Amino acid sequence: MSGAFIVFEGADGAGKSSLCRRIADDLSAKGISVSLTAEPTHEGIGAFIRSGDAGNISQRTEALLFVADRNDHTENIRRMVSEGKVVLCDRYFASTVAYQSAKLDGDASDRDWLIGINSQFIDEPDAIILLDIDPQVGMGRVGTRGEEISKFERLDFQNQVRANYLRLAEEYGFDVIDASQSQDDVYAQAMEIIGKVIG
Ligand code: TMP
Repeated sequence: MSGAFIVFEGADGAGKSSLCRRIADDLSAKGISVSLTAEPTHEGIGAFIRSGDAGNISQRTEALLFVADRNDHTENIRRMVSEGKVVLCDRYFASTVAYQSAKLDGDASDRDWLIGINSQFIDEPDAIILLDIDPQVGMGRVGTRGEEISKFERLDFQNQVRANYLRLAEEYGFDVIDASQSQDDVYAQAMEIIGKVIG
């Protein structure tokens, strides 16, 4: 079987990570070779971003770190796809555009800059699945998971992130799933999209 590169996107609490795990388990059970991966990665630059050790850096430098992590990650993804694996990637370039452009206050030139720096280092996914959810609902989920409220999780910020995602979805033809539905319904719709890609 030939490989595939499938990306999952969404604001915090949209349910991406559990959906990715469920799909990975399901495809593996069907004998399909799957690799579940995420950004920021847990190695090199990604681990550095997650550690918070970068200290007091500018928003542009932070965006460049996400893209640097993506550059190395893309090489790994490309290799896995060429080995025939279905790569399920929890966040990719749209996360930088949606989140960092909200941090840079959504100014059009900043958005163009973010798209531009990404474009040099990314591969085109076979599908980008956006889990769309009202941040009030999504953040409720984050809270019930008992996670620390991070700087990314303020409601107004998440509203901006959601709007940025929906704009990207329209421009780049993402598959949008209403993530306020039951987990089973979201899963079924995601599997239908993936089925069309992997055949
Ligand atoms: P996670 O909750 O999916 O593990 O992602 C960690 C946080 O990193 C999440 O709030 C989104 C943020 N993020 C960005 O701001 N820009 C990026 O490019 C990526 C990949 C993640």
